[in-house]
Amino acid sequence: MKERVFSGIQPTGGMHLGNYLGAIKQWVDWQDRYEGIFCVVNAHALTTPQNPSALQEQSLQMATLLLACGIDPKRSKLFMQSQVNEHGALCWLLSCGVSMGDLARMTQFKDKSTKEKSPLAGLFTYPVLMAADILLYQTDCVPVGADQKQHLELTRHIALKFNRDFGECFKVPKPLIGDVGARVMGLDDPSVKMSKSHPGALHALFLLDEPDLIAKKIKKATTDSIGTLCFDPTRPGVYNLLNIYALLSQQESAQVEAQFEGKGYGDFKKALTEVVAETFKPIREAYTRLQAQRGYVASILQEGLEAVQPIAAQTYQHAKTLMGLL
Ligand code: AMP
Ligand code: TRP
Repeated sequence: MKERVFSGIQPTGGMHLGNYLGAIKQWVDWQDRYEGIFCVVNAHALTTPQNPSALQEQSLQMATLLLACGIDPKRSKLFMQSQVNEHGALCWLLSCGVSMGDLARMTQFKDKSTKEKSPLAGLFTYPVLMAADILLYQTDCVPVGADQKQHLELTRHIALKFNRDFGECFKVPKPLIGDVGARVMGLDDPSVKMSKSHPGALHALFLLDEPDLIAKKIKKATTDSIGTLCFDPTRPGVYNLLNIYALLSQQESAQVEAQFEGKGYGDFKKALTEVVAETFKPIREAYTRLQAQRGYVASILQEGLEAVQPIAAQTYQHAKTLMGLL
């Protein structure tokens, strides 16, 4: 039997190259190898203030974009987190077994909470909802970017502790984090990871960016004054761009270095622009096609929901019973 993967993406802020290389490309490429369950985690978006109608629209757009990226409903299940009530319900049970200290150690909480004037309690318990997402489906592996490693370690800790305290209930999931691509950095500032919420207009490449905008962002991307093209982590700007190029052109680093030996940043950036634009083009076109078929996207989400709901219900019922709830 195939191992099961589960993963999720928040609907707000679009999908950038970091999301794609760190997570979504793996979801798509491994659909034959694993049984995939993928989720638009719209309830996670509520951890920061949202406009309700925009959130609804962005959630459907993210589902559409995942299909455009190649999530294949014949092989994988795609659903909307808020349509399965057990996520919130299991989150409550699990939050009664995890310490405040463990949650306070989460670096993502520390980062995000300092950016808010009055951080919400949901931001603090965010990793417990993520653990519930994963554990409900008896997940074997979770493909994510490197920034989620700590959350996955917490998920494993929560599962092991629950199984020990109340009896066997959850599969303990393994993280699937790639070597390269797991941490794509910002174009304008390669010292921070590429992120949806970064305010810089030239910070991230979004999958729906038009070719002109892609060219502009890459042209302005931070490099250095050295001028040579080699994979040197002490030169973060060039290193980040070279890694992106190697991943998208499916080449080893030595091949890329050989290709650009004696060439300058201008030539390299032109080649990078081309490969990014070529990667995004079919996705943008598929997205446009699918946007005109809202009924189809809704039917895929409904199918996904019907397939996953019984799994979630069974796990939740088991956990609840083990904890002594009627
Ligand atoms: P999010 O947009 O926060 O819901 O993230 C969705 C997925 O993209 C998660 O698996 C993240 O780990 C991954 N991800 C987000 N930002 C990056 C990045 N800059 N580099 C690589 N992976 C990322
Ligand atoms: N926390 C993840 C992120 O910000 C999104 C997420 C929520 C997720 N639930 C998940 C990822 C379950 C994997 C599995 O990127």
